[in-house]
Amino acid sequence: MMYSEKVMDHFMNPRNVGEIEDASGVGTVGNAKCGDIMRIFLKIEDGIVLDAKFKTFGCGAAVATSSMATELIKGKTIQEALKITNKAVMEALDGLPPIKVHCSCLAEEALHAALWDYAEKNGIVIEGLEKPVNDISEHENLPEEE
Ligand code: FES
Repeated sequence: MMYSEKVMDHFMNPRNVGEIEDASGVGTVGNAKCGDIMRIFLKIEDGIVLDAKFKTFGCGAAVATSSMATELIKGKTIQEALKITNKAVMEALDGLPPIKVHCSCLAEEALHAALWDYAEKNGIVIEGLEKPVNDISEHENLPEEE
């Protein structure tokens, strides 16, 4: 079987699908190469992520990783939320086929975009958070420069 049981479970029964009406932050990211789009909504109070929801026009792996990412981020502080990388999400899902790794990046970037939106709306700076991109496929093409 190509996908782990956890991936299949989160794909067939995705958690946290939907919108948060009065969201503290909303992030939308796409990947022009595959055409998939991810939007994540966060409800943040007193520095804690109280709720997270997502909507996607994306593949099964994008659904599963967003489902898991939104599960993992709930109840976390903003700094803890930043540590929920695509690698952490993939680990929680018992892995993804290599060809599907980029789908987990969509979830991570949308999460970061939502946190960025929250920071902008509140006039704060979140340490360690970089300005998100709208299209992660551009990101993939960038030369490594640090
Ligand atoms: Fe585009 Fe999975 S193929 S996010």
